[in-house]
Amino acid sequence: MAASQTCLNIDELRRQARRFLPRGLFDYIDRGTEDETSLRRLRETFDRSELMPRALVDTAGRHTGISLFGRERPLPFVIAPTAAAGLVRYDGEVLLARAARAAGIPFSVSTQSITSIEAIAEAGAELWFQLYVWRDRSLTHALLDRVAACGVDTLILTVDTAVSPKREYNLHNGFSVPVTPSLRGTLDVARHPAWLVGVLLRLLTNGGWPGYAHYPPQFRTRITDSTSHDPIRLCDRVSWDDVAELRRRWRGRIIIKGLLAPADALRAAEAGVEAIVVSNHGGRNLDSAPSPLAVLPRIVDAVGDRLTVLADSGVRRGSDAAKLLAAGATAVLLGRAPLFGLAADGQAGAEHALAILQDELDRTMALLGCRTVADLRGCVG
Ligand SMILES: Cc1cc2nc3c(=O)[nH]c(=O)nc-3n(C[C@H](O)[C@H](O)[C@H](O)COP(=O)(O)O)c2cc1C
Repeated sequence: MAASQTCLNIDELRRQARRFLPRGLFDYIDRGTEDETSLRRLRETFDRSELMPRALVDTAGRHTGISLFGRERPLPFVIAPTAAAGLVRYDGEVLLARAARAAGIPFSVSTQSITSIEAIAEAGAELWFQLYVWRDRSLTHALLDRVAACGVDTLILTVDTAVSPKREYNLHNGFSVPVTPSLRGTLDVARHPAWLVGVLLRLLTNGGWPGYAHYPPQFRTRITDSTSHDPIRLCDRVSWDDVAELRRRWRGRIIIKGLLAPADALRAAEAGVEAIVVSNHGGRNLDSAPSPLAVLPRIVDAVGDRLTVLADSGVRRGSDAAKLLAAGATAVLLGRAPLFGLAADGQAGAEHALAILQDELDRTMALLGCRTVADLRGCVG
């Protein structure tokens, strides 16, 4: 039996991930920002909220499927965009896309992925593309053309990362970009020989130090390079004007990710986007941000059926997902849970993470007296 299959929950997968990954990389994935208040609050908000069961409901034949953007899907999940997946396992982004395909759910490709959208497309999954608007808008728009040429019709515009958040542990661990050689980093990697051989040496023998595959060729630096180019820096001047411009250019669906204020959700509806993700970036950006579960009901009330509301951040149990769905989300994005599975056991581990969450969601629904995901609406207190 593959190692990850012995894991009974996401926390056990996380522990396997911790053993496999160098500490610098594990902390980068696992931790929050500054004092990690927002990360702790995510857990506290889920733990504080209750689900009210209804008794004596026949739930035989229940299912976890949903209809999202006109398609039936077996699970109310989407794999969230995560920048580091290609360092977690060799070809990590492709493995995650294959896991998404096996589960029948979409995979979101990050602007900052190591593998290009063209290569990931070969996995045959439904791909969504996540966009960070770069300072140079013409380069941003050229990237969109490249994405559209791959047949992608869903764009996730992430709007909660105007600057790089302050993550001091990355500096202590020597895990900042550029990755600079240090005794501490070298010892960290040496203590994780399976990752060294299975990921780093494979990357080095197949093209050298990885870089960000979506950056324009003239700016495609390696993660060890100290030059960072102004045109492709994160941009603190992204505004609703950019949303309007994207709306004009992008023929497919637009999802704005990283909204928490009901007024912004309303503004998104007015801007003509199809969906939003209520998210605090997994507690990784603004350290005083509210938890999505706390703001979801007000957002859903504000926008009604003018757009589709998705949510993420902090989901480690099927019951966490159930709470977001009960509070009005149509589907839930998963960031770290599939990444822990990927680290633990590659594609099989990522699939196992999804299977664990599906099983827990199904049990939660049965115990609540819900036959469908729609029945969850309003069960949360
Ligand atoms: C390692 C890592 C890298 C991430 N990179 C991105 C990214 O490139 N773009 C983005 O929009 N969100 C990114 N996120 C945020 C996720 O898309 C998602 O909002 C968050 O992980 C959800 O919380 P969860 O990890 O608790 O499920 C990243 C998250 C992690 C953990």
